Order: sequence, then C-alpha cells, then structure tokens
Amino acid sequence: MIKNKNILIGITGGIAAYKICELIRLFKKNDANVKVVATKSALEFVTPLTLETLSQEPVYIEQFSTSDRKPEHISLCDWADVFVIAPASANSIGKIANGICDNLLTSLACAYKKQIFIAPAMNTGMWENQAVQKNIETLKNYNVKVIEPESGFLACGTNGVGRLAEVSEIFDVVKKHFETKKILSGKKVVVTAGGTKENIDPVRYIGNYSSGKMGKAIANKAFEAGADVTLITTAAAHKNQEYKNITVNSALEMLNAVKQEFESADILFMTAAVADYRPENVQENKIKKENKDELVVKLVKNPDILAEMCKIKKQNQQVIGFCAESENLIEYAKSKITKKNCDYIIANDISRKDTGFSSEFNEVFVIDKNLNTTKLEKNTKENIAAKILELLYGKND
Ligand SMILES: Cc1cc2nc3c(=O)[nH]c(=O)nc-3n(C[C@H](O)[C@H](O)[C@H](O)COP(=O)(O)O)c2cc1C
Repeated sequence: MIKNKNILIGITGGIAAYKICELIRLFKKNDANVKVVATKSALEFVTPLTLETLSQEPVYIEQFSTSDRKPEHISLCDWADVFVIAPASANSIGKIANGICDNLLTSLACAYKKQIFIAPAMNTGMWENQAVQKNIETLKNYNVKVIEPESGFLACGTNGVGRLAEVSEIFDVVKKHFETKKILSGKKVVVTAGGTKENIDPVRYIGNYSSGKMGKAIANKAFEAGADVTLITTAAAHKNQEYKNITVNSALEMLNAVKQEFESADILFMTAAVADYRPENVQENKIKKENKDELVVKLVKNPDILAEMCKIKKQNQQVIGFCAESENLIEYAKSKITKKNCDYIIANDISRKDTGFSSEFNEVFVIDKNLNTTKLEKNTKENIAAKILELLYGKND
C-alpha cells in the first residue's frame, strides 16, 4: 500500500524535470506523503513554487540549512520510506555512484539506507557513454533500482534511448515496492555475530578480530526481508535497533543463547567467530605480574556451536555456517560442510587486507550441500548479505 508512505523525490537538472510535477500529483492523489529535494540545476527547469504547491511541503535545496538543528540529510533520511531520484542526470548519477556529496540531494543518496530508485533521463549520447554506463552498473551493484529510460523522441530533437520512463511506470514501480511479498515473512531467523571473548581474569580475555559487521548485515537484511530476527552478538547493541538483540561474551554464553533461540527458529546463520579454546580456569581476581616472569594459561576446547546445532536441527530448520580461513579456503569450507552437515557454508578469505574481519567489505563463496560453489564478488557487507539472502531464498518480489 502506498497510502501514508513517505516518498522523497529527488529532482536533478534535466529537461524531463517538468514531468515530475505529474509524478508528485500521482503520489499525492494516492494519499502518499511527498517531500522534494532538488539540485540547483533542477530549479532551472522547474520552479520551487510549483513543487511546493504540488507537494504541500517546502522544497529542500540547501545542504547548509540552519532551519533545524538536525542536519537535513539525516532528518529526511529518517522520514523517507523510499527515495526516488527522477529525472536522474548523468552528472548526479556519476556523483552518487562515486560517493560524492556536494549538495543536499547527493548527500541524502549517500546517507540513505533504505531503497533508492533512479530514473535516468538524458540524451542518447550521454546515456551510451561508457562512464555513465559504468556508473549505472555500480549503482545496480549497490542495490539501487534503476528504472530504465525509454527509446523515443528526445527534447534535443533526436530519436534514441534516454527518455525518462513514463511517469505512470515510475509510480507503478514504487507502488509495487510496497506491495512485494517479503521472502522471509513468517520466518524466525537467528543470527550470531562478532568474536567471542574468553575470560582469563576479570580484566583480560582471549579474543579475535571479528567485528560483528557481517552478522549485523545479515540480520538487517533478513529483517528487511520480513523475518522475525534475533541477533546474538558480542558487539554492542545498536541504538534504535528494530529487532531483538542478545549480547553475550563467551562461547558458552553464546551456546546457551543460540540453543534457546534456535528451538523456535527456522533459520540460523552462525556468522560469529567463536573461539575454539577458552582458559580452563577463569581467575577470580586480576592476575598480578609481581614475582611472575611467565604466565601459563591452560586452554580447553570450546563446544562447536555450529556442529551442535546441526546435530539437533529438525527437518524444517536450516543452519548456515560461516568459515573464515587464511589458506585453502574452498577446500576447508567443503570439508566443513560435509563433516558438520550444515545446509550452506559461506567462506571468506581472512588473509586479504581489503575484505573480511573488521573491513566494511567482503567477498565470499557460498557452498551448498552438493558442494556447488557460487562466488559473490567484493562488495559492502550489507550488499553481500542481501546477495546471500537472494541466492538462498530468492528475490523479494
Ligand atoms: C537545456 C538543458 C537540458 C539538459 N538536459 C539534461 C538531461 O536531460 N539529462 C542530463 O543528464 N543532463 C542534462 N543537462 C545537463 C545538466 O543540467 C548538467 O549536467 C547539470 O550539471 C546537472 O546538475 P545536477 O546533476 O546537479 O542536477 C541539460 C542541460 C541543459 C542546459
């Protein structure tokens, strides 16, 4: 349902900007709320007065507005259920694809976490330009939905591809976005994240470099796909998190939490880096260095949470393991899936500096029970998470 949805429309400097007046009217007629952000070039083609009258809201233009304490690019991001940039100029497409934030519209696009749609419109030569096409591909990879331009008579007097998609089509695509059946609705998904901390004494622990970002991304995307999500993590809970969060420290604490949550779950993503060993005895008081030149800490094996959950999983439950290796990645991952009997293994190479632990990026191999392997090329962890869910459960629409 589009009714009562908050639609942020971004208008850039293209001749098709005038058509967006009709788009605003369509959204308003269908009881959606509309706010408009425009680039300065856009206002060469359409006036703020027209846009304000149609949207019944002020038009947002200035990056450095003083009207509100909360910066506009944050408050508009919070407000908008969807961000539709139409027409999207070659110039703004290039900026957004490359993370450039030199005006309010491009800053919003950079900060916006929900779905962005862009409807490009430009002359055929511009549309076919290699750099523009590369930027479009980049945006698609970043999960931006592109409403492709049409072929036809263009304002510059030529015939070819580049004309803004019909306003009714842009409206339908956005409307459909709110009507899509979500792939994980009705499913309970449990996700573990972060590296466990195994106490030596009250102030020291043995840990690892896992940041919990990949698990968090899986949890976010599963939530967006309609799942009832529980995130069991060693990382600090995020403010305003919209789903259940359980914070744990050690592998034993994680095991208890997973056992409890898994009982009623459909899917478990074991994304956490669980320590293989823990100190046998945790000292009650801080260990003092006086009179001690060396310290021996005896380690004992931790339970293998992934293997234990795979042993008790029922027919309708799925367990997805993650494996981080610094050598022979695929080989180890394949032997792990066979040995532990999980449904999928997602393998990532932690020897690389540009992906994996602590990085914002990842590149993974998804391996199924028949040892079929799919590579997901380097991308942000959020996008890798989206691609994993798409590969395993299909698209939302
Ligand atoms: C009359 C006229 C029409 C234009 N039409 C388009 C267009 O349809 N698509 C486009 O990408 N650029 C078009 N441009 C060029 C953009 O306005 C220009 O690249 C501008 O810098 C875009 O700024 P913005 O992306 O910040 O809105 C046009 C320029 C003029 C003067």
